[in-house]
Amino acid sequence: MSQRPTTAALVLAGGTGSRMGRNVPKQYIEIAGRPVLVHTLQHFEDSPLIDRIAVVANGSYHRTIKDMAHHYGIRKLVSVVESGDTRQHSSRNGMNLLGTDPPDIVFIHDAARPFLPAGLLHDLLEAALSSGAAASAVRSTDTAYISDGNGYIQSVPDRSFLYNAQTPQVFRYGIIRDAHVKALEEGICDATDDAVLVLRLGKAVRIVEGSYDNIKMTTPKDLDFAKRYLAGQ
Ligand code: CTP
Ligand code: MG
Repeated sequence: MSQRPTTAALVLAGGTGSRMGRNVPKQYIEIAGRPVLVHTLQHFEDSPLIDRIAVVANGSYHRTIKDMAHHYGIRKLVSVVESGDTRQHSSRNGMNLLGTDPPDIVFIHDAARPFLPAGLLHDLLEAALSSGAAASAVRSTDTAYISDGNGYIQSVPDRSFLYNAQTPQVFRYGIIRDAHVKALEEGICDATDDAVLVLRLGKAVRIVEGSYDNIKMTTPKDLDFAKRYLAGQ
């Protein structure tokens, strides 16, 4: 069985959820009786493709997360590590932690995306094994404008080339580790996803078709979607 590469899921839960406007960060809000973070972790717990899970979070929540894992039977959770002031910093902290016993492959995922579609982890793993790096994304359904910065349209990119980025993003561990080191050396510190750091290394990132249901809980409207989505399951 363990012919396959070793894997770890790195779940980023270090944000404050400012756009959600609650007094608790959105990953801890309960939907359908469970915190968003638990819904997210459950996908990795249930997947035979994932060996272990690490969560990145603010230190004041570490005890809560360990208790949640115990309560909901998330047995693959092996570590909870301190977050940083940007997503990139949080991701780097997680990467450094995994570096003590590096997996072959790391799945980086937003805690705020609790609706991973079945099959996506498999498709991403295949793509990352053949290309070194893979990112889930959906085709853009809206036409996009590039503004001139003064309130006018400057250009309209061809929509057939446009995708909206999602997570998971999946990498050979050495590639994403090097990407984070290079970004820091070059003074890049607020990238909102990891694939862009790999591109800066000059390496290709495969696009894997994700799902429109795999939303990132960002504003209160997304909470309504989440409740309806789970009620309909
Ligand atoms: N994240 C993180 N560390 C940070 C910032 C974000 O681990 N310093 C995580 C969030 O917890 C989330 C994911 O990165 O799971 C995507 O970020 P985003 O949706 O922007 O979440 P928040 O930063 O929490 O929300 P907001 O930007 O509205 O404050
Ligand atoms: Mg944010």
